[in-house]
Amino acid sequence: MGSETESSGVTARTFESAPGSLEGVVVSEEETLQHVARLAAELAADYPEQQLVLVAVLNGAMPLTVQLLFALGDLGINPELESLNVDSYGASFASSGQPEVTFFSGEDRWNDFKDGSRKVVVVEDIVDSGRTIEVIRNFFAEHEVYAVAVVALLQKIGVQEVEVHVDHLGAKIPDTFVVGQGLDGGEQYRGLRDVRTLNPAK
Ligand code: PRP
Repeated sequence: MGSETESSGVTARTFESAPGSLEGVVVSEEETLQHVARLAAELAADYPEQQLVLVAVLNGAMPLTVQLLFALGDLGINPELESLNVDSYGASFASSGQPEVTFFSGEDRWNDFKDGSRKVVVVEDIVDSGRTIEVIRNFFAEHEVYAVAVVALLQKIGVQEVEVHVDHLGAKIPDTFVVGQGLDGGEQYRGLRDVRTLNPAK
């Protein structure tokens, strides 16, 4: 990704020359780790009797899902892993068509969750308009999957277009364009450890 630094004969690249201009830290890596530990403890305390299934909302929630997996492992909890994709973001919300929810392990995967023995934990990196979570909650409700909780690392303040309930939240943040911890700007910056504001114009 552009500018390179030499260290011990290894060429390292930095985020600084990717498109846009990185600005202030909104949530540091250390704060993220603290949020993850607290969120895992909440899951362990709130759903002690059920098998957890962490359902990553692709792609941005991959890092949080992995971090939660290990934090839960530290608490002696072994969640199942699943992932889903909500496609046609934008276009479908504006049209009459319902955005499609697709599970990585097969389109009938939700069927395994109907008996309520598992707690489906939907993992999101960020809640912005709230539409993605609305679509996912509606999907599960329509398929009679009721043991569902939502975990999100971040929720923007004051921009939700629909009423959305996040059961376990890391932090509320101002309405700025942020990258890092799975969040991208033009598919860049997902691996940035701190969540930072990106000014795309620079
Ligand atoms: C982002 C983010 C959330 C969603 C939140 O995903 O990861 O899933 O948008 O926005 P909303 O609350 O307005 O619905 P995106 O569609 O950009 O895909 P990505 O995760 O692959 O980056």
